[in-house]
Amino acid sequence: MRRLERLAGGVRLREQTIFLSPDTGRTAQVQANSIGIERIFDPRSREADVVAAVAAVLEQELDRQLETCSRQIASAIKQSDLLHRRLCSAMRGKKPLPMAALDQSAASICDAVEDEGFARWLKAIELHHGQTCRHMMNVAGTAVAFGRYLGLPRVDLLLLAQAGLLHDVGKLFIPISVLEKDGPLTEAERAQIACHPERGAKALAREQGVDRQVIEAALCHHEYLDGSGYPNGISGDTISPLVRLLTIVDIFAALTERRAYKEPMTARMAIGHLMQMRDKLDQPLLRAFRGLVLEPVFAVSKAPEPARSVTAEGCLTYRRHPLGEVA
Ligand SMILES: [Fe+2]
Ligand SMILES: [Fe+2]
Repeated sequence: MRRLERLAGGVRLREQTIFLSPDTGRTAQVQANSIGIERIFDPRSREADVVAAVAAVLEQELDRQLETCSRQIASAIKQSDLLHRRLCSAMRGKKPLPMAALDQSAASICDAVEDEGFARWLKAIELHHGQTCRHMMNVAGTAVAFGRYLGLPRVDLLLLAQAGLLHDVGKLFIPISVLEKDGPLTEAERAQIACHPERGAKALAREQGVDRQVIEAALCHHEYLDGSGYPNGISGDTISPLVRLLTIVDIFAALTERRAYKEPMTARMAIGHLMQMRDKLDQPLLRAFRGLVLEPVFAVSKAPEPARSVTAEGCLTYRRHPLGEVA
């Protein structure tokens, strides 16, 4: 027991470790507790129980990390984390999607970005342990910040947050071992990932109450204006303003995120990369986006004047271009 106590190290290590023991009876449990070990598990436990135990450790750790954030940011991250977990189990078990959790999560991201600022949001989401959940919070928060910069009303910001949260929902069918693989993908794994827009849109279309533009964003966020994107190679005016905006945000987020196989790019390098994509992306939107992310503290002082297409009832909601261009 003394050796075990030494091995178990400090309090945090004990809290964050799942200890395996062939004996998990009451005596073993009391002995474990006496040296500060909370959880002991039989190595022959069911996989689902082990997964639940790991999830509990991660949740506890996330709560601890979020103590350093403002109440608003912590609540938005907790809600997005919950949404992500519910989406995963709904998508894998073909169960209804958690629509109420989606609305709440979108609203709390809008509030957090509005009250605390975009830079704080980006810093706070780093505290989350999951790459897929971080990406959806990143795209949603960045899209909301961009929408605010363009002077869009709340109804559009909520639509952007929902589209950002759900754009990659089709990836939740794919095993984490493929999504977060740190080596080159096989042909079969690449094909699996390439299906995510169609699989996601199909799952969303089965649901009552998902906005049509949110489904469209899931299907079309890898399409390019010059027709060179996927899955359908659509081009130009058939790509809605909301999708154009989200595509820019999604690529920027992917480039500036740390992944198992790459270091993150700086914002300036990522903007350079987007500029090189030329005819693939909406140029007026990209120029405005550059203004947002290259401002030193993401200040809103130099935001463009809202275009005539931006009205209180909504702009993107009515498929109008936020900078007044014809979509
Ligand atoms: Fe995607
Ligand atoms: Fe994405």
